[in-house]
Amino acid sequence: MATSVNGFSKLTKQEKIAWLASHHFKNKETGIEILKQYWNSDIKLQRLHDEFIENTISNFYLPLGIAPNFLINGKYRTIPMAIEESSVVAAAGNAAKFWQKRGGFKAEVLGTEKVGQVHFIYAGDVDKLREFFSQVQPKLFDATFELTENMRKRNGGITAITLRDKTEDLQHYYQLHCTFETRDAMGANFINSCLETIAKAFEFELKSSDLFTPREKDIQIVMSILSNYVPNCKVRASVSCKIEELRTDKNMDPLDFAHKFVRAVEIANIEPHRAVTHNKGIMNGIDAVVLATGNDFRAIEAGAHAYAAKDGRYRSLSQASIVDDVFTFSLEIPLALGTVGGLTSLHPLVKLSLEILEHPSAEELMEIVATAGLAQNFAALRSLTTEGIQKGHMKMHLLNILNHLGATPKQKAYFTSHFKNKTISHKEVIAEFNALKEKDDAQVPK
Ligand code: HMG
Repeated sequence: MATSVNGFSKLTKQEKIAWLASHHFKNKETGIEILKQYWNSDIKLQRLHDEFIENTISNFYLPLGIAPNFLINGKYRTIPMAIEESSVVAAAGNAAKFWQKRGGFKAEVLGTEKVGQVHFIYAGDVDKLREFFSQVQPKLFDATFELTENMRKRNGGITAITLRDKTEDLQHYYQLHCTFETRDAMGANFINSCLETIAKAFEFELKSSDLFTPREKDIQIVMSILSNYVPNCKVRASVSCKIEELRTDKNMDPLDFAHKFVRAVEIANIEPHRAVTHNKGIMNGIDAVVLATGNDFRAIEAGAHAYAAKDGRYRSLSQASIVDDVFTFSLEIPLALGTVGGLTSLHPLVKLSLEILEHPSAEELMEIVATAGLAQNFAALRSLTTEGIQKGHMKMHLLNILNHLGATPKQKAYFTSHFKNKTISHKEVIAEFNALKEKDDAQVPK
């Protein structure tokens, strides 16, 4: 049973597991065995993973899949995807295969500006604060001179520091709104270090200034932190072709398909319930590549959804149109990604994923990730507006159901072939599996 524990972090891994087993596992031996099954036999590799986070007791696997055939800006990419959900990788591969014959994907980085803010409370005269800020601003850059040295050598660094008056929204609340160029790094640590230095310098200068009364000098730096909302660190991915080229043996009439597809996107644009699921489909592709390349998917998720609601209403992140017989489908999304720093040089599979992607720059990775999101969205909408999502999705999910039922490899092969061209339901698979078991031994694949 759960109970309070003091000093848990100081226990050894074995002791933590023993505590867990005695308080939470019905069957201690089995629970411990499961945890240990997922340990890596290479002790060094296991230690590396143990040290990624705190209180580590085991590893939590996600499959790493591969979606080939992505023709992006005229260059083929093979995309690694870390994800647990069936049919996502297949859908990505399917969309890639579809668009490679229709000119491929175009992707373009629209901006790479990162953001961080020093949030502070000042109860004095606003004009004095403005005047002080204009005097002190160069000193704030100077204060970070050493910190930014390497980044400046790469043509990065702090691009602007501005004072923002937020007192209309919250009494006495101001910000130092800072923007950054972090090149191939996601830059979280760099940004946060700069912000903390800027905050200290700002407070010191303000307290030393003759402009303010003692009361006005009593400012409060509430916090200094990067923002994961980066609307100017944005990428656009798109596909486009003549409507007639949308024809396949599986599709409905291409014109009907194109119109229905555009309608589906329009619905996601004005209806938040649909928009959330629509964007979830995009994030299937985005998150999987973000994870495989060791980037922070929570930051990407939070920023993407804030961007989807930028005009006060939650909308589709993608857009579709038909102009002069040309179908265009595009996605614009903020993506602050890195290909150096963080896990990128630590996690062996992340390193390998970046190798599979041929060591992209952060901007190239933005293009690849946005393309994966667009491809995913295209595949899902194509299914939704034609045969329905369940046919393809459940075909891929079949192995999960069969594993759940304890099917043998032969039984899995039998059912995969049996259900090949059918829309599968969970109930139907169970019924057919049980019926098969009742047949005489000769007919049952084992
Ligand atoms: P299909 O047409 O039956 O596939 O599609 P196919 O057998 O003709 O194969 C064509 C290509 O698809 C293959 O080419 C692969 O690229 C890929 P090939 O490798 O043969 O040269 N493919 C596979 N890749 C790996 N393993 C496989 C596999 N099968 C096909 N086993 C497919 C089947 C599932 C791809 C299609 O129906 C599809 O794209 N469905 C969409 C599935 C989807 O969107 N899944 C996401 C999860 S559902 C969700 O969460 C999002 C949603 O709610 C979002 C929204 O509402 O907008 C739907």
